[in-house]
Amino acid sequence: MSKNEALLDKRKSSHLGGGQARIDKQHQQGKLTARERVTLLLDEGSFNEIGQFVEHRATTFGLDKQHFAGDGVVTGFGTIHGRLVYVFSQDFTVLGGSLSETHAAKICRVMDLAMKNGAPLIGLNDSGGARIQEGVVSLAGYADIFYRNTRASGVIPQISVIMGPCAGGAVYSPALTDFIFMVEETSYMFVTGPNVVKTVTHEEVTSEALGGAKAHAERSGVNHFTAANDVECLKKVRDLVTYFPQNARELPPQPTQFAFTASKLETIKQILPENVNVPYDIRKVVECVIDDESFREVQEDFAKNIVVGFARVEGKTIGIVANQPAALAGVLDIDASRKGARFVRFCDSFNIPLLVFEDVPGFLPGTDQEWRGIITHGAKLLYAFSEATVPRITVITRKAYGGAFDVMNSKNIGADLNYAWPTAEIAVMGAKGAAEIIFKREISEAVDPEAKWKEKEAEYADLFANPYRAAERGIVDDVILPEETRSKVIAAFKMLENKAETLPFKKHGNIPL
Ligand code: HXC
Repeated sequence: MSKNEALLDKRKSSHLGGGQARIDKQHQQGKLTARERVTLLLDEGSFNEIGQFVEHRATTFGLDKQHFAGDGVVTGFGTIHGRLVYVFSQDFTVLGGSLSETHAAKICRVMDLAMKNGAPLIGLNDSGGARIQEGVVSLAGYADIFYRNTRASGVIPQISVIMGPCAGGAVYSPALTDFIFMVEETSYMFVTGPNVVKTVTHEEVTSEALGGAKAHAERSGVNHFTAANDVECLKKVRDLVTYFPQNARELPPQPTQFAFTASKLETIKQILPENVNVPYDIRKVVECVIDDESFREVQEDFAKNIVVGFARVEGKTIGIVANQPAALAGVLDIDASRKGARFVRFCDSFNIPLLVFEDVPGFLPGTDQEWRGIITHGAKLLYAFSEATVPRITVITRKAYGGAFDVMNSKNIGADLNYAWPTAEIAVMGAKGAAEIIFKREISEAVDPEAKWKEKEAEYADLFANPYRAAERGIVDDVILPEETRSKVIAAFKMLENKAETLPFKKHGNIPL
């Protein structure tokens, strides 16, 4: 065999990972292999592998007799729609994709390159966790990765794709990254699995119920995007990165083409119900303002009372944050505040302008919320908006009540422009509650208290249930018709294109975590 043939032979055996039997098992479980995933993620033929022949150096527990070229992780770089990305893909067929000292070093190598060269990092996770035979060196390997995830945060976009087990401390690398994708039925994430849960809390729970894609999409909010299978998942990742710049020094890419269906300017006029207490879906409003089919909702199934996601206007990426009157009347609670705040932080880190749609009756009252710290969590959203230096626009469609008005990207916390629709109500609270408080005595002393209350409610509504008190003070910059929203937003973002704002010197702020 020539030396060249020997190389090709070595490559071939490295490509087999843990062997054909284990590859077959992976396929039987509905999972692709690490290499198949990389191939689907990247542009055809663009993958350049690094460290294909790296092997572990462990000798304990029979590892001296088990060597696999690549040591259970495929690492390298390639392109998505022509743009550079770095990738690692754990190979479950090799010792369960477990993380050894050298496996970790390979991941760290691509992380370092991604940081130095300013391009996104995408991690495809499918691993039984720390390689048990190696002990502490594999734990140290995880820590090396966590450290780099943190250093890279806000420097390059980081995406974690969970395509198999992800247990123990291993979940903390994904948690430190910007977005997590999970595949239904085949992926799960938890700090401790069902067996430990049973021992400690006596709860009987399956892996899927404890930490599957659905559990993390709906209950914990850990999972940002769910896919039905590996193929769909990787397609979604390819799509998402087209919204991001390569790193914090760059602006998001500008696609050359966009479409906007003109009839949406008619549709938008009909969305708000006559009765202010009737809900409507804010996503319909969003759709009528942005480019056709450009909305990519993030954490769709979590804290539905706030809608966040990426969109495009005239082909440019923006971030949308919108109260959702169709869920809990759009009230701000702990989960909605956390969800909104984290999204705002990502957009601000990566120069993505923010467009906010506001229809919010206030913060959710109650002991549950207070005792779980709505004060601290609500402050996260306030802090995130206040600190954001990207172009920021708010459109108030209906209610803008109380502290929630301040929080939802008001000009007083640094928004560049606030617009209000004629249906906007900008006040400390709703007319009914306000009348009850400020006219308490008059109402109680009236011959017909109910009628008095109604009269005072109407008086307050007359004065404040409109956008004009705010417009008179310049608190909103203009009152606009719904159908004017798109053109106003486009003009405003153009006007703000060269916005340059710097924060006061600090090591870093102390966000209310
Ligand atoms: C070494 C491992 C391994 C591990 C799996 N394997 N996990 N080898 N270290 N952590 C090996 C198995 O021995 C097996 O080898 C092969 O991978 C496939 O595993 P199976 O058990 O046959 O697969 P499956 O039935 O699909 O179950 C997958 C699994 C299970 C649920 C992940 O293997 C499992 O529970 N593994 C241990 C998980 C764990 O406790 N990890 C440590 C977490 S603590 P053969 O040769 O038989 O094919 C942790 C600390 C991180 O990670 C700390 C960071 C701060």
